[in-house]
Order: sequence, then structure tokens, then C-alpha cells
Amino acid sequence: MKGVLLAGGTGSRLYPLTRITNKHLLPIGDKPMVSYAIEALVIAGVTEIMVVTGGTHAGEFLRLLSNGHEFGVERLSYAYQDKAGGIADALGLAERFVGDERVVVMLADNVLERSFRPSVERFADQKEGGRLLLAEVENPQHLRHLGVPELDAAGTIVRVVEKPEVPPSRYAVTGIYLYDPSVFSIIPRLVRSGRGELEITDVNNHFIDAGTMEYDVIEGFWGDAGESIDAYYAVNDHVRRHGANHA
Ligand code: DAU
Repeated sequence: MKGVLLAGGTGSRLYPLTRITNKHLLPIGDKPMVSYAIEALVIAGVTEIMVVTGGTHAGEFLRLLSNGHEFGVERLSYAYQDKAGGIADALGLAERFVGDERVVVMLADNVLERSFRPSVERFADQKEGGRLLLAEVENPQHLRHLGVPELDAAGTIVRVVEKPEVPPSRYAVTGIYLYDPSVFSIIPRLVRSGRGELEITDVNNHFIDAGTMEYDVIEGFWGDAGESIDAYYAVNDHVRRHGANHA
């Protein structure tokens, strides 16, 4: 299974910190943010990775990550996203890299306490489609800044709603997505959203409509360090106290 790590975007919610660098290079604990996502993929058993980034600081990723060997990555590739056209747009750049394999997509501002390796193993046994990782979130206000799944009585995902006014469940869709290679035939059919982006939530809803989306609820802490300054410091506090990426 290939890994695609998305580290582009504008980081506008962390302005002015992100006027002078890429969000994913900001420190979390004693390391740049992106290091945690690389580690998470490696301990999940994914060692062929493409980093997609953009903007004026893309070169810094090469200086930090180099060939990836220091992190346990066997083959590290890079792609450059010209404009912040959305998560699905960024993923589309990895089509040739992924080829006809399955892919784990990870947003480089996501930090987890526990490894998601069990989900990767379950996805390897899944016949087709996609798999989401959900995290339970206590505060409904927090969910209004995230993708939120609606579940039916049997616990099946009916749809994902992006940044809902009224969250339809108490779960967040985390920024870790597992897809079969058919994802690359969905992306060209997407329509830009109100914020001018190709939304990963629309990709997920395609798999849901096809009846091929499964999910796991993760255990332990999960944070989106790019969501706001408060979230950035909450993730920092958690990592400094408890660490991250435990097996
Ligand atoms: O973190 C989980 C959330 O991530 C999900 O719950 C949402 O459903 C999903 O849409 C996403 O929401 P965000 O509003 O946090 O997405 P954001 O625009 O901040 O982008 C997240 C990451 O994706 C960012 O760290 C870098 C990468 N990205 C984003 C854009 C817009 C790119 O590589 N290129 C892009 O053009």
C-alpha cells in the first residue's frame, strides 16, 4: 500500500505564523509537525510515500525529510501543488505514483496518540472501496469545523457533512483516508465547492453512495493541529505530556 501525505494549502487559520513558513513545518513538541505524520505512516507499515506540498516553502521539506531513510521511509517522492485547490486536488497529483495499488492518504496536520496500523490491516482484507477513521469528539462546537458522518441505526455511514451547523453525530472524520485506486476516477468528476476547492468529503460521499465505504473509530487522542491556534496549542500540550504514535 502506498502513502500520500498532504502538506500543501495556505494555513490561513494559523496566520500570521504561516506567513513565514508552511504550517506543517511549525513545531509540535520537539519536532516539525510533518514528522509525526511521516512516523505514523511508517509505523502503520507504509514506507513508500509521496509528500504533496506547495507555496514558497516547499524546498524546506526536502531539507527536513531528505530521502526519508532517517524516518524509516524506503522511497520518498515529492509533488508540487501550484494552487491550494483542495485536498482532493492535492491527492490527484499522486495518481501516477499510486498506480493500481491502494493508498493511505494522511493530512500532515493530523496527530494521533495511537497507531492506525490495525485499520491499514483491515483495509488490506476489505474487498474494495474506502475506509474512514473516525474520532469521537466531546464538544459539538468543535465538530462544526470538521467533516462529520451521519450514521443510521445500524451504524452504517449514510453521508459525510463538511463543517455542519448541526453535527449529525458525535464523530469527526479524521484526516486519514484509505482508498482503492478507483479514487482517481472519482476526482476528475468532482465539482469545486463554495470555497473553490475539490473536497475530500465529496470523494468520501461517492464511496458511501456506492456502498463500499467502511470505517473504524480510533482509540486515543486525535488532533487537527491546523484547525485553529487553540487546536495547535492543544495538540502541542497533548504531545508534550503523552507523546504520539504509540504502537
Ligand atoms: O483534519 C480533519 C479534517 O480535514 C476533516 O474532518 C475534514 O472533513 C477535511 O475537509 C479537512 O478539513 P480542513 O478544513 O482541516 O482542511 P484544510 O483545508 O485545513 O486542509 C487539511 C490539510 O490538507 C492541510 O493540512 C494540507 C492539505 N491541503 C489542503 C488544501 C486545501 C493540501 O495539501 N492542499 C490543499 O489545497
